[in-house]
Amino acid sequence: MSINQLAYLVVESTDVEKWRFFGTQIIGLSEEQAADGALYLKADERRFRLLIVPGARDGLFASGWETISEEQYLAAREAVVRGGAEVIESTPLDRQLRCVTGMFSFTDPSGNRQEVTWGPISNFLPFISPVGVKGFVTGKMGMGHVVLPSMNFDESLSFWTDVCGFGLSDILHAQLSPEFTARIFFMHCNPRQHSLALAEMPQPSGCVHMMLEVPGIDDVGRALDRIAQHKVPLAASLGRHVNDDMVSFYVWTPGGFALEFGCGGAVKDWENDHTVFETTRGSHWGHQWQAPPAQ
Ligand SMILES: [Fe+2]
Repeated sequence: MSINQLAYLVVESTDVEKWRFFGTQIIGLSEEQAADGALYLKADERRFRLLIVPGARDGLFASGWETISEEQYLAAREAVVRGGAEVIESTPLDRQLRCVTGMFSFTDPSGNRQEVTWGPISNFLPFISPVGVKGFVTGKMGMGHVVLPSMNFDESLSFWTDVCGFGLSDILHAQLSPEFTARIFFMHCNPRQHSLALAEMPQPSGCVHMMLEVPGIDDVGRALDRIAQHKVPLAASLGRHVNDDMVSFYVWTPGGFALEFGCGGAVKDWENDHTVFETTRGSHWGHQWQAPPAQ
């Protein structure tokens, strides 16, 4: 498998200052000013895990996937070309802003922009949270996960599995209303139970949700306290997921999508301890969804 982690997300924002506050004071990431008015939000020894770029819309701009070496990167590029997607080479400015040695991009069959990289560049300074978060669970499991809208579902699913080499983890048919059931397929590229999920639902912000994981329940609880203190709207209450065991809540970001913040995510041994399964509900308990705030 040539892609082995979700390395970063690039978010476009009409108001970078909203993300600066949300990222540092609510989520607990640290910040660094980037070129051209962009903002790095840091979660570990990487230079950043969230890159906020100023722009004309609010939403996800791209998902950044990492390969372990130039060889694997070239193999991924070859696979994407063979899969029929148009590969766009990055510019030196793209690579500089993302702190990577190599990068190409393509659009998946549902229209989501993907970036594939190798050779992250970092000063490896330790992460120090401005609000005392102990750390984020990253390393070989990547930054977390992202759930992307996928209206061209079948083609997208086979692209991600057959072309990009992701493994199917589990399946959910989510009953979102009495008339509407959405397919959500969860996929892995490392021991994290899912790094990517495709959701058959439209989403103008380009992202259904993203997830960051902290080491323990106290950091989840303290984040809920900060959310209450600053009156930030929750997207879903505390709950525990059936598929990855994570105890989490969801909060609305300034990007028009939700951020899942949780702990206790499963670490899988795919070879020896997994059966692809379907769950008929997403959560053992909790995760009561609330409507997004009026803009
Ligand atoms: Fe999630």
